[in-house]
Amino acid sequence: MKPSRLTLCGNWILERFPLTNLWNEHMAHYYAPKNFNFWYFFGSLALLVLVNQFLTGILLTMNYKPDAKLAFDSVEYIMRDVNWGWLVRYMHSTGASAFFIVVYLHMFRGLLYGSFKHPRELIWIFGMLLFVALMAEAFMGYLLPWGQMSYWGAQVIISLFSAIPVVGDELSLWVRGDYVVSDATLNRFFAFHVIAVPLVLVLLVFLHIVALHEVGSNNPDGLDLKKIKQTGRRKSDEEEEEKILRGNNPDLKIMDSIPFHPYYTVKDLVGVAVFLLFFATVIFFMPEMGGYFLEHANFIPADPMKTPEHIAPVWYFTPFYAILRAIPDKFAGVIGMGGAIVVLFLLPWLDRSKVRSIRYRGGIYKKALLLFVISFLALGYLGTQPATPTATTFARIFTVIYFGFFLLMPLYTRWEKSKPLPKHLTYQPSLEERLPALIDTFHEVTVLKQVQLQDGTVVNKRRPNARGILNVITRLAIKLKKSLD
Ligand code: HEM
Repeated sequence: MKPSRLTLCGNWILERFPLTNLWNEHMAHYYAPKNFNFWYFFGSLALLVLVNQFLTGILLTMNYKPDAKLAFDSVEYIMRDVNWGWLVRYMHSTGASAFFIVVYLHMFRGLLYGSFKHPRELIWIFGMLLFVALMAEAFMGYLLPWGQMSYWGAQVIISLFSAIPVVGDELSLWVRGDYVVSDATLNRFFAFHVIAVPLVLVLLVFLHIVALHEVGSNNPDGLDLKKIKQTGRRKSDEEEEEKILRGNNPDLKIMDSIPFHPYYTVKDLVGVAVFLLFFATVIFFMPEMGGYFLEHANFIPADPMKTPEHIAPVWYFTPFYAILRAIPDKFAGVIGMGGAIVVLFLLPWLDRSKVRSIRYRGGIYKKALLLFVISFLALGYLGTQPATPTATTFARIFTVIYFGFFLLMPLYTRWEKSKPLPKHLTYQPSLEERLPALIDTFHEVTVLKQVQLQDGTVVNKRRPNARGILNVITRLAIKLKKSLD
């Protein structure tokens, strides 16, 4: 049979470009651990949000004016007059916050399963560089609408550079391009936001994935899959284990890894669908998110003569901003804020535990991680609030816990006893398998009560059941205590 034009066209490309090899190496023949769970959705979601930011950013640039006199009005023009401009703008502004939510959860997965440990140190370093680049991208993007908070936020943050001894003043002048935040600042931030930093982001994502595919993905058990294959375990052990796992099916091969495509491409699509549901809900029903995603003061044009009463950065910067304010000396505060990010880079070398995953670590790491998460969230909240004496005291306590988590890590991870690792990946029930239990819990915490409506009819309505709620809370508390031991 004569090959079709499409096949001929495909062959023409394949003879000149290794498309099939690339696809196989990174998708169809890229073997990933078979027990990826909820936490593994956020890498692909970060990619999705990155693409969303690029596409909506390009569309916004078509009508935005990077000029101090025109910028604010051009954003209003996009919102009111450009066809679908409001949607594109909300997709971009919500995308910025979504990016940080997704990336914070992605990083937290690393802390849960020790994904930063040997041999994935470089994946972590590229990830941290991505995080820093992302912060720069978001900070510069926030100046562009030229609202009050854009202006004064940039003013406060750039003036931090002046706290650096000797070169500080010159440095902040150099960053601003003027003695105050001005048109020159807006122009350079536009250039960085639209061209320079996106290029860096794409390069870093590429390096991040290449490094990941070189060593292979970690897994919720933190097992070294390549090692399982290589270090000759006793044949009899292996056969015995396989017999148990295989059950009645003698042909079933016990595999710890599965091809990324189609298994995880399809699974990730489920994550994408759920994510888009939340994303669309925010865009259509609460795009300002109570002033957290788009701050109220930013609907007022920038006024260099009028400082807003309370200047706070967008929520994703507030944990670091709270650390800055918690330290009384300005320069020490800047060092503290920078240090909070630098310690994250050092994580692969601070953690001395023999195991990766939290599942097999001792209780100290679990409690330390819990305290760290509480302090990070609390710092995030305090960073949005005015710096009253009480708020500052709390911010200081949480700053100490934040740094304590990292700086004491070499000690507590070395001391604590880890649990023995399984030989194969373990299996945890998925959400849909847990659904019947969740429905039972729902029935336990509620009770059907007869309610009389205004027209006199009596209907059954579900109401909270105090005893059931107490039982569930007790069970959860016992479970949490057990899992922290
Ligand atoms: C633009 C931002 C980012 C994108 C697009 C991105 C993308 C990805 C993707 C697609 C994966 C593979 C899928 C997965 O394991 O979830 C991955 C893995 C990983 N990422 Fe990121 N990432 C980003 C930022 C970060 C950051 C900020 C960190 C931490 C500092 C980080 C640390 C890691 C680690 C350690 C892995 C390997 C995880 C494992 O094998 O268990 N990433 N990333």
